[in-house]
Amino acid sequence: MNTPARTARTARTARTARTRHYLMCRPTHFEVTYAINPWMDPAKPVDTDLAIAQWEQLYSLHQELGHTVELIDPLPGYPDMVYAANGATVVDGKVLGVRFRNAERAAEGPAYLEWFRSHGYTELHDPAHVNEGEGDFLVTGSWLLAGTGFRSAPEGHAEAQEFLGRPVISLNLVDPRFYHLDTALTVLDGDEIMYFPGAFSPGSRAVLKRLFPDAILVTEADAEVFGLNAVSDGRHVILPEAATGVARQLREQGFEPIGLDLSELLKGGGSVKCCTLEIRHRPAGA
Ligand code: ARG
Repeated sequence: MNTPARTARTARTARTARTRHYLMCRPTHFEVTYAINPWMDPAKPVDTDLAIAQWEQLYSLHQELGHTVELIDPLPGYPDMVYAANGATVVDGKVLGVRFRNAERAAEGPAYLEWFRSHGYTELHDPAHVNEGEGDFLVTGSWLLAGTGFRSAPEGHAEAQEFLGRPVISLNLVDPRFYHLDTALTVLDGDEIMYFPGAFSPGSRAVLKRLFPDAILVTEADAEVFGLNAVSDGRHVILPEAATGVARQLREQGFEPIGLDLSELLKGGGSVKCCTLEIRHRPAGA
């Protein structure tokens, strides 16, 4: 019998992937020579070849799942450029450039903006205030969720709202291990998200609870292995393989988690999502 509860359950498990367009940057020059987040330790050796091999797995996987992946040339001397999510925020074909908090990454902003300019994007904005792209800006069906506290500035949130014309929900990050929003929260599909509550201030936790009452709440243990630094196409969710608890929670909700080992890139404080920038086009006919 088709009881309402049963209908709801069926609806929840019918997950559909939507084809995406991503931008990535090969970690050719990856190393850890400075520390701008608690995960980075320049004294700890980094195996660049292994970083490249692990990154290649992610690059191939996106393509096997049917997505289009473009590449930006890595700049020597900018080891963090592999974290392409920090390169821009692209919504409806509009490209909001980035401005980094730390001088070590400053040159990446213009490089990413130039990539978009030279690839035919015409609506671009070079920001006046600090925003670290999709590190701190996450697009849901209804909102632009925006992290602050460590990197992106509240003024940068306002600037994003004005340029992109999407309501911004500012969220305060309070735990230095989760210095970018994309280390503490994942958009799964439309307005479905998962997050680690401990990364947010009490007020921001209340906002998340109000807007996303059905969100998946992730444990600290899973968040600590970057289980929230994940990329979803609406059905497949690519995440660090160590986040086994999240994988189980996702399966329960009808998603297909796919675990990857990006241990070398973790040494820079990033994983799956950090390495993947989504390019969102203008909807057809808009
Ligand atoms: N080392 C980089 C930084 O601290 C890591 C950036 C990770 N990217 C991200 N989207 N969370 O800026």
